[in-house]
Amino acid sequence: MSQQAKVLIFDSGVGGLSVYQEIEARLPQLDYFYIFDNAAYPYGELDHQTLLARVNRLVLNMVAKHQIDLVVIACNTASTIVLPSLRAELSIPVVGVVPAIKPASNLANKAVGLIATPATIKREYTHELIRDFSQSKPVEMLGSTRLVDMAEEKLRGKAINIEELTSLLAPIQNKVDVAVLGCTHFPLIREEIQAVLGDQVLLVDSGEAIARRVQELLAIKETEQEKGGREIFSSAPPWEEGALNQTLQLLGFSSVNPCQIEI
Ligand code: DGL
Repeated sequence: MSQQAKVLIFDSGVGGLSVYQEIEARLPQLDYFYIFDNAAYPYGELDHQTLLARVNRLVLNMVAKHQIDLVVIACNTASTIVLPSLRAELSIPVVGVVPAIKPASNLANKAVGLIATPATIKREYTHELIRDFSQSKPVEMLGSTRLVDMAEEKLRGKAINIEELTSLLAPIQNKVDVAVLGCTHFPLIREEIQAVLGDQVLLVDSGEAIARRVQELLAIKETEQEKGGREIFSSAPPWEEGALNQTLQLLGFSSVNPCQIEI
């Protein structure tokens, strides 16, 4: 495949940017298209059928419109249900992000914390991951939409309230030695989570593994330093758009464009 492959990254909000950063650091030469379905945010509280219909519609449209070569569903909440239908519809690779239970369990001595959205911790898919890959270590689950909101706020320039974060993370505090960041929004507030849980807790996410997988699927051996294009689309006008656009510029994007896809 060509070195200028077009990659589409999908999330409900800014969380997928944490995955974009990992892929982009490895493969800056690719053309990146990022779309977020903020009209239906937060996905962690959306019903199964609505989520499935929205992701399919947005992704299939973007793929056709921009001749995408590879899709990354940079959202744990969506990946745990949309991958089979997207893969059935598309002839290009579709990479999903699911909670990194297996590596976390291998690294843990005591217990694993899974920090994710309320939907992800309820999903059968997640329970299967735990059954299959963490038989010997207990997994403490923590589902929170407020944590997702905090990452959205941070990318609009708002500081994280450490006191609030401390009370949100209290259910796993001092109980686990490895914590999975099972929502792509959370690496964006990794430093703050680390400060609250303490240095003795190892934080694990799927970003780097996804970047490696993308490189492998596109069969790219050499990386080039010359950057490709970066475009970002949303399904609704984002709140605090000006502040968000400032952060997006630092990540190499221009301002958010409306995706103009009716759902
Ligand atoms: N970033 C998403 C995830 O990885 C979902 C956040 C949300 O919309 O609830 O699960």
